[in-house]
Amino acid sequence: MSAPAANPVVAPDHVHALLNRLHQESLTQEEALPSTYLSSPDGFDDLMRDKFIALDQDKCHFVYQLARATGARNIVEVGTSFGVSTIYLALAVGSNLKHLGGGGMVIATEKEHEKAENARLHWREAGIDLVMRHIDLREGDLLETLRDNIPQVDLVLLDIWAPIALPALKLLEPKLRPGAVVIIDNSIASASRYKDLLSHLRSPTSGYTNLTLPYSKGLEMCVKIR
Ligand SMILES: C[S@@+](CC[C@H](N)C(=O)[O-])C[C@H]1O[C@@H](n2cnc3c(N)ncnc32)[C@H](O)[C@@H]1O
Repeated sequence: MSAPAANPVVAPDHVHALLNRLHQESLTQEEALPSTYLSSPDGFDDLMRDKFIALDQDKCHFVYQLARATGARNIVEVGTSFGVSTIYLALAVGSNLKHLGGGGMVIATEKEHEKAENARLHWREAGIDLVMRHIDLREGDLLETLRDNIPQVDLVLLDIWAPIALPALKLLEPKLRPGAVVIIDNSIASASRYKDLLSHLRSPTSGYTNLTLPYSKGLEMCVKIR
């Protein structure tokens, strides 16, 4: 008999069941989307208003593992939606704080009120102590909500519509600690839409090292070295 697939996430069964259910709902919605949805700006916000567009589960496992390996205490999630990837980040921060001590938080961002409400329901279902209390959800346009009260940041998950990605990163850059990690989803499939962001990250003057991880559609892992 072969070994079960590796899953790094330390959580009770009900949280694994919740995560599996939410990923499945997200995939079902995405399969029903027109293939051109990313390249048709007309009506894009309306189309996306009730869609998860959750980070793929294998990528969530990687980000969780990375947050545990780096002992991340303060994480900014740029784009929260229904709060799926946030659950992984909150579990990692909670475990890191328990084992390493100190304070920390996942700062989550969502502009759609309905999505924010759904995210809160999911976090409550995962557990108030286990997940919800580690999340500071900032509702509204993240270009406003991420302007103030940002601690020194260990990890950023950029899982956001392309036009807002570089302005969001620029807001956070003064707060990135040396060695902070920035993760960008879809860096291969959406390379042309993320052109400005990737050019900035890969410019020799920006102070990042960059690696494209071979997940489906790509996942960029960038480290702020100076
Ligand atoms: C790809 S989804 C995030 C998925 C989430 N990380 C997950 O794995 O479940 C991106 C989200 O960013 C939100 N968003 C887009 N522009 C925003 C802005 N300017 N401020 C805050 N949220 C925004 C969208 O409403 C959408 O729900």
